[in-house]
Amino acid sequence: MPEKLRFGIVGCGVIASTHAEAIASLPDAQLVAVADIVPECAQRLASTYGATAYTSIQAMLEDETLDVVNICTPSGLHREHACQAMRSGRHVIIEKPMEITLAAIDEMLHVQQEMGVKLTVISQHRFDPATQQVHTLLQEAAFGRLVLGNVLVPWWRSQAYYDSGAWRGTWALDGGGVLMNQSIHSIDLLQWLMGPVHSIYAYTDGLAHRMETEDVAVAVLRFANGALGTIAATTGAYPGIATRIELFGDKGSAVIENDALSYLHLARDDQEEVGAYGIAATANPQEKQGATAASNPAALSSTSHTLQIADMMRAIREDGMPLVDGYAARRPVEIILGMYEAARTQQKVILS
Ligand SMILES: NC(=O)c1ccc[n+]([C@@H]2O[C@H](COP(=O)([O-])OP(=O)(O)OC[C@H]3O[C@@H](n4cnc5c(N)ncnc54)[C@H](O)[C@@H]3O)[C@@H](O)[C@H]2O)c1
Repeated sequence: MPEKLRFGIVGCGVIASTHAEAIASLPDAQLVAVADIVPECAQRLASTYGATAYTSIQAMLEDETLDVVNICTPSGLHREHACQAMRSGRHVIIEKPMEITLAAIDEMLHVQQEMGVKLTVISQHRFDPATQQVHTLLQEAAFGRLVLGNVLVPWWRSQAYYDSGAWRGTWALDGGGVLMNQSIHSIDLLQWLMGPVHSIYAYTDGLAHRMETEDVAVAVLRFANGALGTIAATTGAYPGIATRIELFGDKGSAVIENDALSYLHLARDDQEEVGAYGIAATANPQEKQGATAASNPAALSSTSHTLQIADMMRAIREDGMPLVDGYAARRPVEIILGMYEAARTQQKVILS
């Protein structure tokens, strides 16, 4: 195993710079090459990080000694690029969603097994301290019987954002709208914390943008453990405010707002028993200042990406498992596809 793992990136758009910055910040990682079909995009990223620019993934895979390839192309191209990289013997870090159909995901899992390489899919908010803390408390059963889990994504994306790439907001390459692109982060956290989703009712619509796919969606869920839940998401909520994930049990409640823990109350920490009518919520979330991904997709800190890339490097070096493997990344896509089906058929969808 080389002292420094050698990375290549395919797709040099908005999210690629977060990957490049994350790789550059890790002492035992090195960005060696980047590829994009638009030569200026590849050149710009390559010159910032001292990497070699390519205009095709194939040329990059053939010419360079690489350990890991980061797939940062439009979502509906992840299968093609990840499979190409894995078939060349490279480990892959794939941007979310892993792919936009379950058939494509299953093919990727098959190629991964055949080639014996590591695969992780970015779900960077699993690495946020707030998410980690709530997950640890859940493993201790600190919330008691889970009863309700909610996600609210009231984000804003302008028409110019959707017009900035021909793939954005299309079924063929984005695989959906606010659910498949923006809300997959929170839906992944919801199911990671609350457990698998059993069944779904949903509505979706396109109300605020000119695009094929939905910009507003709501769903009612039942989790396999019997708890209920809701998902409400839009990219039509100007100016875009904080994502909220709420988790309620009969021994405690937690709220993650803007990726930070804004409320936590556990019965096990109470000095006195809470009365029959409970207590009024006194949460006073510390609002983060400045732009967030709620209003600006480029305003993403690379800290959580760095933690996830470091987790993958650990898995490669120890021949272990990354936190978000392909099977884990399949679940939020299955839920989102279930929401689309429930909205289309106006029937309850039961997940396998
Ligand atoms: N984790 C996050 O928070 C986050 C944030 C933004 C985007 N993403 C994901 O990252 C992916 C890319 O999104 P983006 O916003 O960076 O898109 P983008 O349009 O800004 O960048 C995509 C790049 O891929 C290039 N490309 C297209 N086809 C190619 C091909 N065949 N070979 C090589 N390059 C090709 C395009 O020229 C473009 O430069 C999507 O899957 C998206 O869902 C994740």
